[in-house]
Order: sequence, then structure tokens, then C-alpha cells
Amino acid sequence: MQVVIVRTAAEVAQFAADRVAAQLQRKPDSVLGLATGATPVATYELLIEQYRQGRLSFARCHTCNLDEYLGLGPEHPQSYRRFMQDKLFNHIDVLPEQTHLPDGLAADPEAECQHYENLIRQLGGVDLQLLGIGRNGHIGFNEPMSSLGSRTRIKTLTPDTVEANARYFRPDEFQPQLALTMGIGTIMEARQVLLLATGEAKAEAVATMVEGPVAARCPASALQFHPTVCVVLDEAAAADL
Ligand code: GLP
Repeated sequence: MQVVIVRTAAEVAQFAADRVAAQLQRKPDSVLGLATGATPVATYELLIEQYRQGRLSFARCHTCNLDEYLGLGPEHPQSYRRFMQDKLFNHIDVLPEQTHLPDGLAADPEAECQHYENLIRQLGGVDLQLLGIGRNGHIGFNEPMSSLGSRTRIKTLTPDTVEANARYFRPDEFQPQLALTMGIGTIMEARQVLLLATGEAKAEAVATMVEGPVAARCPASALQFHPTVCVVLDEAAAADL
């Protein structure tokens, strides 16, 4: 595991944006694995800026997001499809048919998970996977006790994750407790992984991921076995290392 510690969250975003840009410059038709959550937003803003300055094009790449809430459609304000449209896709030159997320409204969610696995395979696999980390060590929506070899499937969210993500939902709004997520085995097949963590709330999960035993209770710890993972932290997230 390569662990890079920089001072601020802004520097984490700069590092990540530079890595994504370098990947696209080296291989314009890359498959980028993308993540939602607050952490990668600043990275997406920097990528949009580079695109606007004419320094970067997404026209030939494909994107595959980690996960989607089961039951939320693309227009729902809290769906991850909508998040990606708002935070990145609407502002760059990626073609809509080249952006992929599991379909939260699929009539047969299990078949949708299989379809998503096949899609990633057909695209040739993920070249660079961007990840955040949950306070409980989850990656994607692979909650603690997920099988370390798991594939894309339906997961029940833990109360801790539901609570952590409740800030995005209005009190009277339906908040799904199920999601479709790439599995840990799926994520481990990405050629490169770039995990970002910022802020003190992530310090414990980061320390367990990097220094703890590889164990299902901290799904991110599986990344210790990934040959080319880079963990980028600000000082607060690195505090317990
Ligand atoms: C969600 C997402 C994860 C993300 C995590 C942390 O549960 N499914 O992919 O890494 O939240 O989010 P944040 O970056 O907002 O702390």
C-alpha cells in the first residue's frame, strides 16, 4: 500500500485530480471507476476546471460507479446517478452512454447486478478506481462482514451508514436501506486503486484499513492485498496511523 499524507483536503483533491488526468492522458479510452460521497467532490471540481481550460477530455473514456441506492431513479435528488450528473457528468464532455451506474429501479435487481459485472468485463475492466471510505471501513457499500471476494450484489446498509448518509435526505424523505454495490472482489480487480480520505471522522477507519489485520470487519483492509493501491490522506485522516 502506498500511503501519501498531505496537509489539507484541498491537497488530497489536487493529488487525485492529477492522477486521474494523467491516466486519461496516457490512455484516453480508460475505464474510470468513480465514487460518490462528499470526499471526491473537490476532485471532480478540479477535473471540470481542467476540462474547461481545454487541458483534459473525457470524450473517449467510460465511467463505472461503485454503487446506487435500490429504489431510487436517475431523477431522484439523492440517487447516485443524479449526484454524478450534478457533480461531474453534466460539466464535461463524457457521452451519456459511456457513464454507467447500477440501475436502482431495475425490475430484477439481482439480474442487474450480474449485468453490471458483465458490463465491466466487456469494457475491459476498470483502469483506475477512485474510492472513499465509510466511517466503519466500508468501500462502495460493502459494509463490515461483507465477503472479501464478493461481486456486485444487493447489500443492506448498516444503521451507522444510514445515519451517516441521513444528512443528504429530508426528514420526511424515503431513505433506502438497500443498495446495489460492486463487491470487494470486483473492486480488487481494478488495475489501480486510489482511495481518498479526509477529516478526523475517518482517522480510525483509515488506521484499521492500513495497519489492522485484513478482515471482513474492515472491508477496506482487503486493499492491503491490492498490488497498486494508493491511499491519499490529509493530516486529520492520518492522525491515528
Ligand atoms: C457512501 C458511499 C461510499 C463513500 C462513503 C463515504 O456510503 N457509498 O462510496 O465512500 O459514503 O462518504 P463521504 O465521502 O461523504 O464521507
